[in-house]
Amino acid sequence: MSEMILEGGRPLLGCVRIQGSKNAALPMMAAAVLHEGEVALHNCPRIADVFSMERILRSLGAETCWEDHTLRICCRNLHGFEIDREDAASMRSSVMLMGSLLGRQGCVRIAYPGGCTIGARPIDLHLKVFQTMGARVEEQGDLLEARTPDCLWGTRICFPISSVGATENGILAAVKARGTTLLENCALEPEITHLCHFLQAMGAEIGGIGTRRLRIRGVRILRDAQFWVPPDRIVAGTYLYAAAATRGKVELLDVPLGEIASILRVYEKMGGQWECNGGKLKADASGVRRMVEYTRTQCYPGFPTDMQSVLMAVLLTIPGKGRIREEIFEDRLKTAGELKKLGGRIHTAGRDAWIIGGGPLTGARVEARDLRGGAALAVAALAASGTTVIGNAGFVERGYEAIDADLAGLGARIEMR
Ligand code: UD1
Repeated sequence: MSEMILEGGRPLLGCVRIQGSKNAALPMMAAAVLHEGEVALHNCPRIADVFSMERILRSLGAETCWEDHTLRICCRNLHGFEIDREDAASMRSSVMLMGSLLGRQGCVRIAYPGGCTIGARPIDLHLKVFQTMGARVEEQGDLLEARTPDCLWGTRICFPISSVGATENGILAAVKARGTTLLENCALEPEITHLCHFLQAMGAEIGGIGTRRLRIRGVRILRDAQFWVPPDRIVAGTYLYAAAATRGKVELLDVPLGEIASILRVYEKMGGQWECNGGKLKADASGVRRMVEYTRTQCYPGFPTDMQSVLMAVLLTIPGKGRIREEIFEDRLKTAGELKKLGGRIHTAGRDAWIIGGGPLTGARVEARDLRGGAALAVAALAASGTTVIGNAGFVERGYEAIDADLAGLGARIEMR
């Protein structure tokens, strides 16, 4: 796997455009399977996870092609229903194909999905959705097979906890089901709203978009559609916090302002300033100096778990004692161990991390443990003196299209090899 080499100690200055959203694009790609025709996704990020999903779609018989950042997917001649074990294991979002393949052709065989190892990440809620809609699900070791005797049936499903993936899979399964599906206690993450809007453009009938209660009336046929993948709120948050860690001044173009309110609130608590005009966010982080005493990750619109390790990196640069509590994934504090190698003073216990910030950070050899954790190491490295080498940088490339070019554009000394 590749390495990222950074030389830190200078404020980030300049302007960067925010890429299309990974977590919006992946379920949209899965949704393409529902339609016996073509969809086009503009502003689609050219990242490893998107390429993995593209590879899976092709293995099922889809035709795909890229023109710059537009990805065209044609599933007219889809024939497969079995997802290769290695492909399924390569990323979490492979599980999204369960809902769409069941909706399209009534059967799917897949190994348990992979993705970042940030906790047990069960898929019991996804499977429950399919079963409630009439599918039979069988498990053989790590292989799952789901089949519908005739079709999926609309019904009422109330999620016991908020799950982004299970909500998305429920939506995908319901779009072509017979009758109306009522999904209750849905997750509110913006990527779900984006998926619904894309499906509407394809002819799906969905009510209650943006609420916890979605009503989906099954349709028989969808239509060709094109859609603009919205910008990535976590990438925007990462670059904003990289500016905070280095006390820089940056302009972020194409920022999904409404989606990053909780990230901005924590940034303001640190002393960061910002203004936004027409999708351009100007952030002046030169005044960042206040420790944030307590932050806990929550479902949207709360502070995102995907920003937890990045926040930890920033807090290390601010004098004082802060605490972060990880409420979503039980094993997502692993990056703390790597941040300590840079000199960070962090103590973890269970779901809590206590950070004693303001001490010197010094470049060292560290290993990315997951996608966002890898980005957090880059943020800490930018604030550290000397050179940091981040191993397993491929993790970062799963979600950031060109983090090296983006940060270099902000004046960072960074190289991938
Ligand atoms: C998605 C995002 C991920 C983000 C997470 C939470 C994608 C591709 N990934 O992941 O970046 O960190 O939302 O915002 O969009 N759970 C169960 N059973 C299930 C499903 C989930 O117990 O069947 C639990 C999980 O273990 C976790 C919680 O529910 O504790 C939330 O997980 P979920 O919202 O499903 O996350 P993902 O969809 O996997």
